[in-house]
Amino acid sequence: MKSEEFVKSYAVERHGTASLKWDALGVRFGDPDLTAMWVADMEFKVPEVVQEALHERVDHGVFGYTMAPDSYYEAFINWQKKHHDTVVEKDWIRFSPGVVASFYNCVNAFTKEGDGVIIQSPVYYPMHNAAIDTHRKLVRSELKRIDGRYYMDLEDFEAKIVSESVKLFILCSPHNPAGRIWSEEELDQVLSICAKHDVLVVSDEIHQDILLGGRKFVSSLSVNNGAYHKNLIVLTAPSKTFNLACLLNSNVIIPDPELRAEYDLRMKAFNQVELSILGIVAAEAAYKGGEDWLEGLLDTIESNFNYLKTELTTKFPKVVVTELEATYLMWIDLTAYVKPEDTKDFIQNKCHLAIDFGEWFSDACKGFVRLNMATDPKYVKFAADQITRELAKLESE
Ligand SMILES: Cc1ncc(COP(=O)(O)O)c(C=O)c1O
Repeated sequence: MKSEEFVKSYAVERHGTASLKWDALGVRFGDPDLTAMWVADMEFKVPEVVQEALHERVDHGVFGYTMAPDSYYEAFINWQKKHHDTVVEKDWIRFSPGVVASFYNCVNAFTKEGDGVIIQSPVYYPMHNAAIDTHRKLVRSELKRIDGRYYMDLEDFEAKIVSESVKLFILCSPHNPAGRIWSEEELDQVLSICAKHDVLVVSDEIHQDILLGGRKFVSSLSVNNGAYHKNLIVLTAPSKTFNLACLLNSNVIIPDPELRAEYDLRMKAFNQVELSILGIVAAEAAYKGGEDWLEGLLDTIESNFNYLKTELTTKFPKVVVTELEATYLMWIDLTAYVKPEDTKDFIQNKCHLAIDFGEWFSDACKGFVRLNMATDPKYVKFAADQITRELAKLESE
């Protein structure tokens, strides 16, 4: 499906629907009238097959305790194989209400207070919080930025693992907000460092399906023919791909039997959560019948990204836009034009936008902004008009 048809069929108004992104603007940003381009969900209805499956379940009218049926496992395993050439076995799969909940669970289960937890910043801020909130030592290995593209700093990463007694690594793959799909070679290098120092890897692969320009994703599960399974927990979910975040269903994949047994044992102490029946129903339907919809979504993200990038960089060539290999989160460095300390005033009071600010992801990124491209192009056009108009005013001052 092409973007035009996708937007016509699925774009939807969200004000007044108890949407965190739109209805919490007053509480979160102090201004309910901003245009919301922050949190990572979308202004698009789910595929029809998902709505139909949910309707059918709702019409049955019973929401008692549930179990994942074989058909769910089959749909999920087929999706991983077909889309990512990743082999997953049924026994390896556990469930969790969300990926954030899972990396908190893993930190709680496999480390103790004071242990080092390493992340590669700038990175999704709940990964920072998973260490801070649990009184672990947050260890940041900053990614290197070369011509707007981000790379792992493996020397720094290994040195910090050793000097900071790191026990667990939360890997963001693909990376939010750096937009990178890590190559198999990069993953091989970082995973082998973790194996060498006995660091448990929690690989957050929630953005694995949002791949732009026909690019391919490599799961940590497949790297070097599964060489790193011993110390590996992979987190995936249909929630970013199909806009299902609040149906509270995600997958935890643990291929190593010993690690899995340990996970099951430790999780008993603090994770007594039932499965979300509607989450399971929606995910299965999406994995089985959501491909055409996903094609339309990807075409829309790509055209939104290209539009905003062209508008910004042709008019203001010193704006640095990081290429979007994956995710729908556009990462922009405005520091050549806007003083970092003025960015909030510029974005909110001048441009009337609600976005994610760079310093949420790394102290080093004040003056960067993250904009959500999984949205109706009318909002992207609004953002382009606002930002270019206000940058022009700054230039003429
Ligand atoms: C890298 C990453 N992990 C996890 C999440 C959220 O996952 P969940 O809603 O399943 O907790 C997001 C949402 O933006 C994300 O970008």
